[in-house]
Amino acid sequence: MTSAAVAETRTFPPSAETVARAHVDAAKYEEMYAASIADPVAFWGEQGKRIDWIKPYSQVKDVNYNFGEVRINWYADGTLNVSANCLDRHLKTRGDQTAIIWEPDDPNDEAQHITYAELHRRTCRMANILESMGVRKGDRVVIYLPMIPEAAYAMLACARIGAIHSIVFAGFSPDALAARINGCDAKVIITADEAPRGGRKTPLKSNADAALLHCKDTVKCLVVKRTGGQTTWIDGRDFDYNEMALEADDYCAPAEMNAEDPLFILYTSGSTGQPKGVVHTTGGYLVYASLTHEITFDYHDGDIYWCTADVGWVTGHSYIVYGPLANGATTLMFEGVPTYPDASRFWQVCEKHKVNQFYTAPTAIRALMGQGNEFVEKCDLSSLRILGTVGEPINPEAWTWYHEVVGKGKCPIVDTWWQTETGGHLMTPLPGAHALKPGSAMKPFFGIQPVVLDPQSGVEIAGNGVEGVLCIKDSWPGQMRTVWGDHERFEKTYFADYKGYYFTGDGCRRDEDGDYWITGRVDDVINVSGHRMGTAEVESALVAHPAVAEAAVVGYPHEIKGQGIYCYVTLMNDREPTEELRKELRQWVRTEIGPIASPDVIQWAPGLPKTRSGKIMRRILRKIAENDFGSLGDTSTLADPSVVEDLIQNRANK
Ligand code: WT7
Repeated sequence: MTSAAVAETRTFPPSAETVARAHVDAAKYEEMYAASIADPVAFWGEQGKRIDWIKPYSQVKDVNYNFGEVRINWYADGTLNVSANCLDRHLKTRGDQTAIIWEPDDPNDEAQHITYAELHRRTCRMANILESMGVRKGDRVVIYLPMIPEAAYAMLACARIGAIHSIVFAGFSPDALAARINGCDAKVIITADEAPRGGRKTPLKSNADAALLHCKDTVKCLVVKRTGGQTTWIDGRDFDYNEMALEADDYCAPAEMNAEDPLFILYTSGSTGQPKGVVHTTGGYLVYASLTHEITFDYHDGDIYWCTADVGWVTGHSYIVYGPLANGATTLMFEGVPTYPDASRFWQVCEKHKVNQFYTAPTAIRALMGQGNEFVEKCDLSSLRILGTVGEPINPEAWTWYHEVVGKGKCPIVDTWWQTETGGHLMTPLPGAHALKPGSAMKPFFGIQPVVLDPQSGVEIAGNGVEGVLCIKDSWPGQMRTVWGDHERFEKTYFADYKGYYFTGDGCRRDEDGDYWITGRVDDVINVSGHRMGTAEVESALVAHPAVAEAAVVGYPHEIKGQGIYCYVTLMNDREPTEELRKELRQWVRTEIGPIASPDVIQWAPGLPKTRSGKIMRRILRKIAENDFGSLGDTSTLADPSVVEDLIQNRANK
């Protein structure tokens, strides 16, 4: 996917109409960006006022990036409540306005329009239910739900009473779910009977039952009815949400939270070990999510905004729920998939609800592009004004198709680069300010100082037309604060390799004009359909199978997914490599982690290329997986060079 960074030279300036409407044009961007860097305290002090505080802050920023003493605080003496900001403060002016449009998996089922007043009541009821189950300020609640309005109620209900939510994507397996429940020592898990998606149903409650076998027996389970499908029930442990909601009071006072109290934990994959719990806090996160939502998507009152992500990922947190609702927006929540009932579903939904801003992932664009233009062209997409992408670099072909076929050449595409850790967009073109370059994340957002470092020396590379490792020089309010329960891991992961900077894990190029192009991860994290996967996680799942002696996992270019999962597997001496075993291993990984970790290729490897000290040389494995045998580089440090020959000879035919 790095080809875009090299080959692409087209630019697409915004139309006069786009500029005229935009909150931020080129001059304003320059002025605001300069101000945000010259005096971050003044800039963020002012921006902090976009949300309501119970007790206003007097301190804005307290940050230390020095390894060993990393500390990140924003608005630290202010108090507020996130759910009051997303709900209560809108009631007077927009109580009857739709907050959430819910579009179900099956287009024949009815969509729901939930007003701010209704969302407030639903959230309060859910908050009261949680309190009645014993949840208190600071307690953790795991949310394992389909994309239904109750997912938003649950998030906001936690925020309302000061509980910390940790959402687990409904595509994760019981084992992965259990690890996350135990990882944050959750008191309650909120789930549903089943999750309909693409006409199929995932048995969420059964998964939760299986997970809870591995958790403390004090963990309670609140069950939302979605399909009415049958579930087993344990009295005293399982609670019926729909029944309790009939009784629950529809007002619950919002708790007064400190700006630095945790709002949520979200597990994400890293280059080593098991997923870590990224911690986001209350004040700075909300300021950043709401500002970026308004500016990046050029959101105006009355617009209908749709982000196709799942609330199980950070994109759903910041850009389906918290950012849009803090801004009083109308946000669309979609339960289904882009190709069900057919490949026109996204465009049907855009037409049906007159969507103005549409935000999705390159993997979806590539998949739909392959289905042909008729699916798009039969829909009326005249309401669309802004298109967005997120999750991985977008290749020029997909960009062009999105721009021409979906956007009819008139909608700017915001290619937003950010991470679970960053809470919100760090780099993106702004619709009315920048001439787009297909595949470029273009410019830093306000307050963001990207630097390109030499990977070896860690020294900043000045000037334009340069490439290296991407770090960020100073903090911004939406930044993660710590790894749940392991601040040392936080410092080691993000602040140890390049001292004094936040290390993103990405490589990037700054072109001759000073615009940024993300070239992909520089660590052992792979990006499968915009989902982040640690190769170490897949490896540890594989070696947990009794037939597997050793495994090494790398990413390789995949036409639709961006990257696919390529596994080299060494079997135990007494096991035969059969097609059946290959199937079994694939299923095994799906069970251990979830369908998103399903291996694309499993190659039997009698041996793995290792250094004499026993370290697997992944560089070589990556090259073989990429079918790039010409540039294996230096293999002289290998303990046994002949294993490479074998792997090349037997490279799996994909
Ligand atoms: C990684 C973060 C942020 C929400 C979705 C993914 C890659 C993300 C882009 C983009 C090129 C991108 C990076 C980053 N990435 N957006 N616009 N262009 N690469 O969040 O799971 O935390 O993954 O996704 O490699 O580090 P995540």
